[in-house]
Amino acid sequence: MQTTPRRVTIHTLRQMKEKGEKIAMLTAYDATFARLLDEAGADVLLVGDSLGMVIQGHDTTLPVTLDEIAYHCRAVARGARRAHVVGDMPFMSYQASLEQGMTNAGKLMKEGGCHAVKLEGGAVHAELVRKLVAAGIPVMGHIGLTPQSYHQLGGFKVQGRDAGGRERLLEDALTLEAAGAYSIVLEAIPADIAREITAAVSVPTIGIGAGTACDGQVLVSYDALGMDETFKPRFVRRYATLGSTIKDAIAHYVSDVRSGQFPSDAESFTVAENKATPSTMESTPYSSAGKK
Ligand code: KIV
Repeated sequence: MQTTPRRVTIHTLRQMKEKGEKIAMLTAYDATFARLLDEAGADVLLVGDSLGMVIQGHDTTLPVTLDEIAYHCRAVARGARRAHVVGDMPFMSYQASLEQGMTNAGKLMKEGGCHAVKLEGGAVHAELVRKLVAAGIPVMGHIGLTPQSYHQLGGFKVQGRDAGGRERLLEDALTLEAAGAYSIVLEAIPADIAREITAAVSVPTIGIGAGTACDGQVLVSYDALGMDETFKPRFVRRYATLGSTIKDAIAHYVSDVRSGQFPSDAESFTVAENKATPSTMESTPYSSAGKK
């Protein structure tokens, strides 16, 4: 009998930091990937606005809408049984006003079925974080390289290297913690600054391009799985080369279809078999998706 695993919560993550257990977080955008990452032991699944780049093919995350994040959250929430699911607040869904941020975070929780929201920026959003937490919405912060500020930052660049950078980042992290954020993503900052922040705050830090000392790590799952053979920044480790695996498999399929090797008789139906087992095809029309 299959048992339901105990759900990872914001309290589990806090305890993991306290016990020195590292947190493994990945992005997920659909139910099938969510199920696979969840079954493989990922603690946190982030429905990141990186979907604008890896799913939608944009150059930045800026075009992603709240409805799109909510749609992908619903799919991921259906696929994840153990992992904590975080919905990313997209560009200009919370920056205009406190009311806008409250309404839209509520929408992600209610319509997306996620367990928390993430938003980019530090002290500037402290008031919003406070209000969301007071309303019962857990908030993950995100400082350092904040991709929604791509044009302001002048590109995807390591942050915190300029004069005052260390102090600003530390201040942002402490302010987010004081406002009630339960975790903070540290993106593309020098490893020693990430170490200092991780020691200074009691909430878990999750690094991406932020060195070894963070309480956890996050990668865009498509990068970790090597879906794009042309993209390999220094902070990414590829755990598979699925891009070439998929291309090889599909080239094989195309060749089999063209040569008549697929389908074989064993992969076809006969009238006699259909009468004997009428429900087989009806119950699984296209794939095993959605089957528990
Ligand atoms: O959108 C995203 O995937 C992210 C992570 C890379 C932290 O924000």
